[in-house]
Amino acid sequence: MLYSATINVMVKAARRAGRSLKRDLGEIEHLQVSLKGPANFVSLADKRAEEILYTDLAKARPGFGFIGEEGGTREGSDKSHTWIVDPLDGTTNFLHGIPQFAISIGLQREGTIIAGVIYNPANEELYIAERGKGAFLNDQRLRVAGRRKLNECVIACGLPHIGRGDHELFRREMIEIQNRVAGLRRFGAASLDFAFVAAGRLDGYWERNLSPWDIAAGQILVREAGGILSDIDTSGDPLQTGNVVCGNEFVHGELEKILRPLTK
Ligand code: IPD
Ligand code: CA
Ligand code: CA
Repeated sequence: MLYSATINVMVKAARRAGRSLKRDLGEIEHLQVSLKGPANFVSLADKRAEEILYTDLAKARPGFGFIGEEGGTREGSDKSHTWIVDPLDGTTNFLHGIPQFAISIGLQREGTIIAGVIYNPANEELYIAERGKGAFLNDQRLRVAGRRKLNECVIACGLPHIGRGDHELFRREMIEIQNRVAGLRRFGAASLDFAFVAAGRLDGYWERNLSPWDIAAGQILVREAGGILSDIDTSGDPLQTGNVVCGNEFVHGELEKILRPLTK
């Protein structure tokens, strides 16, 4: 595959940060047995990965702004371009040595996401999408799944954990969806949930209270693979609201129909 220069910059940065995370994962597997656990070590791994991403992206595109989960916003001289980066999405999985985590890099131009790269260094799956040019997994073109019967669909969700989100609302949503689908999943790395929808592994996915760095790259992947992605409750921009539902046209519509009335 021939990708644009911008995608090549993103991939190179993701692979370098990925090598760092993979080394740290090896260390974490040893730390599980210690009483204190690997929590502090993980937060260092996270910061290290973000610094690698910032260094590489800023070197290749000096003027672009940068929004990272760890370091916050760093303004650039070019006000129209911003990287939106999660250096480690799926922290809880990483902390427990579960190989479902990823680096997620989105590029926003004038408010629109124009490119996305998601990389899981544990299995070396590399997802790439560019506006109008399609979505790819390790150079294979992606297409969302075509199922049109909800009772044959596998749907992923995000589960609000202690101290976060509306647990009551989630339980109502879960019951409604659970009663209608073939399988419900909670994998724990939002970027990869989007990527799995783009790859047709999952038929749909919804989650509330996400942050822009969880969504940016995944959003373009799903859309470039022919999927529909929107805010759950309104016609607003999911990157701003953080409440996202996606799938093929049919599945997205069905999920939206089930979820929307539950907030009232
Ligand atoms: C989290 C993961 C998780 C989602 C959370 C996110 P983090 O990101 O994507 O799947 O349910 O809402 O915050 O903290 O691991 O980068
Ligand atoms: Ca995240
Ligand atoms: Ca993170």
